[in-house]
Amino acid sequence: MTKQTNWLNILTQCKNNIQKQITSLLKTLNQTQPDLGIGAGGDPIKQIDLSAENAIINTLKNHKISFTLISEESGVKEYGKTPQKHYVTADPIDGTTNLTRGIPFYATSIAISTKPTLNTIHTALVADLYHGTTYTAQKGKGANRNNEKIAPSKEKSLEEAVIGMDINTYKIQEIAPRLTSLIQKTKHIRHFGANALELCYMADGTTDAFIDIRGKLRTTDMAAAWLIIQEAGAKITTPEGKTLNINLDPKQNVTFIAAANQKIHKTILNLIKTKKETK
Ligand code: IPD
Ligand code: CA
Repeated sequence: MTKQTNWLNILTQCKNNIQKQITSLLKTLNQTQPDLGIGAGGDPIKQIDLSAENAIINTLKNHKISFTLISEESGVKEYGKTPQKHYVTADPIDGTTNLTRGIPFYATSIAISTKPTLNTIHTALVADLYHGTTYTAQKGKGANRNNEKIAPSKEKSLEEAVIGMDINTYKIQEIAPRLTSLIQKTKHIRHFGANALELCYMADGTTDAFIDIRGKLRTTDMAAAWLIIQEAGAKITTPEGKTLNINLDPKQNVTFIAAANQKIHKTILNLIKTKKETK
């Protein structure tokens, strides 16, 4: 009988190894950084991103796992003899700007799937690398924060709700009119700068919703959080209310409305205008 891979264990090891890399690299951040080109996701690569990615690759290699890596930094790369057996979708550091500027909100995000598609993800980890909080999920087994079960909030009032919203885009003229009606009815809008972690904050009830309709976020940033949200019992759909059915690819962008419960999800959905409505 073949031994079953303990993915949660392996992902935790990946996270611990990333943590070690970061601790030593943080000391060198004020030195001039080498030019490492542009990553697969379109952003300039930083040494700290590459080191975190290498920590993931080396941990998996140590376990003699064949896999296809889908990463924001190196793109799609195959390792081992049967790379189509496991797909590892990673944003080695989500919130790199926060990390390099000393803002204590950044994470690693890793999802394991049987195909390069969102809906085949079966194990996920998002870890807050500053505070040491780790979110995990396994398909059909719920979601945890530091090994304790999590659940989203029951908040139904938009006025009371804490709503995460990423509006970082040069195309703000296209996005803003779609969000105005929602913003007018809210009091507590937030954006912390690491979307994977912000989605987990929604999944565990810290916030009540997280919205990103920019069309700029990569699937690598939210793949792991997607399973954590599903397993926690929160909702995540397209801005039109449809199931997110997307391929895992560093060049694939995604838009979504994630919310703690059916009621608040519906309220938000009704207030967000479609592209056509604003034309
Ligand atoms: C970024 C963060 C940020 C979001 C950007 C992402 P990165 O991830 O999630 O909050 O606004 O769109 O690219 O680049 O630090 O991995
Ligand atoms: Ca990143």
